[in-house]
Amino acid sequence: MKRIIIAIDGHSSCGKGTLARQLALALGYKFIDSGAMYRAITLHLLNTGINPDDEQAVASVLPDIIIDFSANIETGRSDIWLNHKNVEKQIRTLKVADSVSQVARISAVRRYLVALQQKMGEEKGVVMDGRDIGTVVFPSAELKIFMTASPEVRAMRRFKELSDSGVVTSYDDVFANLKQRDLIDSNRKDSPLTMTGDYKLLDNSTISKQEQFEIAMNWVAETVR
Ligand code: CDP
Repeated sequence: MKRIIIAIDGHSSCGKGTLARQLALALGYKFIDSGAMYRAITLHLLNTGINPDDEQAVASVLPDIIIDFSANIETGRSDIWLNHKNVEKQIRTLKVADSVSQVARISAVRRYLVALQQKMGEEKGVVMDGRDIGTVVFPSAELKIFMTASPEVRAMRRFKELSDSGVVTSYDDVFANLKQRDLIDSNRKDSPLTMTGDYKLLDNSTISKQEQFEIAMNWVAETVR
């Protein structure tokens, strides 16, 4: 079967990663969480005391940052490593989420990560999720999916996910964070989140994980046919 690139873009916390992982597993593809890369850079800035609003300072530390993904044998998932340290858990805190969209507005950061992402997808057989995968990273991706859900549903899912993993937070804080990120991500100058005509829309407010997987697998079948 022809190996393709599947780009999944969409709003914050709408389950892009879940769908991307399901598809990658079913197809034997690589899954790449591009948001984790923006989060890892943000974590590095927070750890080193660099102001995420200071574009020049941020750009100057990019050469010090090494980002890798590596399989976690315990969970079977691919974890993100920042400068040789597994930071998969640390990048998911609300502290990182509160600054990440600010960092992701910086063109130097985007250029740096887009180049890495393009290299990771060069052999195809990749599912990558993010905000600009179908528009900037892989504009010629064979299948582009735009995911969304109502803000309340998204906030409740993310709140549950964080609580289940032991992160102390409140629904209201999660809701405020995702609204704020959607606003910044959709309105920034460089590579804003936008749905163009070549995306297939998937609103999963009222459908199950299994249903969304089946819809997407049908799109894959149509694409590789
Ligand atoms: O998991 P969630 O949908 O909440 O977010 P994420 O995919 O982890 O992405 C975190 C943030 O990184 C987003 O809110 C964007 O600001 C930024 N991002 C981006 O600008 N471009 C991407 N391709 C992926 C993420």
